[in-house]
Amino acid sequence: MPKAVVLGAAGGIGQPLALLLKSNPLVTELGLYDIVNTPGVAADLSHISTPAKVEGYLPPNDGLKKTLTGADIVVIPAGVPRKPGMTRDDLFKINAGIVRDLATGIATTAPKAFVLVISNPVNSTVPIVAEVFKKHGVFDPKKLFGVTTLDVVRASTFVAEVLGDLSKAPEITVPVVGGHSGVTIVPLLSKASHPLPSSFSSDERDKLVNRIQFGGDEVVKAKDGAGSATLSMAYAGAEFATKVLRAVAGEKGIVTPSYVHLTADPAGGDALKKEIGADLEFFSSNVEIGPEGVSKIHPLGKITEHEQTLIKAAVPELVGNIEKGVNFIKAPK
Ligand code: NAI
Repeated sequence: MPKAVVLGAAGGIGQPLALLLKSNPLVTELGLYDIVNTPGVAADLSHISTPAKVEGYLPPNDGLKKTLTGADIVVIPAGVPRKPGMTRDDLFKINAGIVRDLATGIATTAPKAFVLVISNPVNSTVPIVAEVFKKHGVFDPKKLFGVTTLDVVRASTFVAEVLGDLSKAPEITVPVVGGHSGVTIVPLLSKASHPLPSSFSSDERDKLVNRIQFGGDEVVKAKDGAGSATLSMAYAGAEFATKVLRAVAGEKGIVTPSYVHLTADPAGGDALKKEIGADLEFFSSNVEIGPEGVSKIHPLGKITEHEQTLIKAAVPELVGNIEKGVNFIKAPK
């Protein structure tokens, strides 16, 4: 205890994420699954002198089931990444089916595990996992998380750059709420731990917001067809997984943004829906994580008029993304 599993472990995100989890002393077992290369990745990682016992499986001979048996936390970075010119929604066609099949494996083999979804489009793949779990009668909204941590990590870094002091980046926190794609990514800069310079113009603020919303495109463009963010995503995924592991180990007061089902904390979820003025099923906000999963969904609190405008722009897109994921399972075409 605890056993962590990575599904899609041989990929651009999966390999460095598996490395970071193997380096984490809280992990005692690490299961790696992919359709290629996992025995090699597992053999390689197994030589690292940390406690976790590593095993890697491929699909034949019940590989998915073997990987998931006994899992406490499952991280899913399986699927195709973006190429230049693509939106995250363009990935839906391929990744929706991959996530559905992996979720089915989790629902039947490790239904009580925490599930952390990285595969894009997160706004739709998280609803897919929820629907698959509902179908199997094992859905616990407290244990399902869309990983939006990369947006939070980027916001900290970009704010530190604006402040001209990158050494502050690790301590800067910016709540990033909404969802995980383009305009659904809403950084609440007014609630950042470190205020922006008073000389900061609204033009400069807009540029910063835009950079946080579309930061992923900088990487897609620089990689020029070779994929999207992998190393920074692995870092962010490991950060989030570590928070869950610490909460499971009994640490109190762990609060971080994540894209969750709003019934995970019905009272908090209802209050949040009132604030955003929409009856959404999923939304990313600061959540408190306890040993059983989400223990509290935090409200947005007092935000600026500009931030309210950003939320208004995010809502219709989120509604469509959620519906697309739900319908993929409920009403497949
Ligand atoms: P990649 O192509 O390098 O790796 C994906 C891996 O998934 C490959 O090893 C592939 O063999 C594996 N895979 C494909 N089908 C599978 C299946 N049915 N079962 C198990 N494994 C399977 O892609 P990369 O760069 O690692 O990205 C993975 C996903 O993460 C993409 O959907 C990408 O858009 C998403 N992503 C999410 C971010 C976030 O902030 N949530 C940030 C960056 C990427």
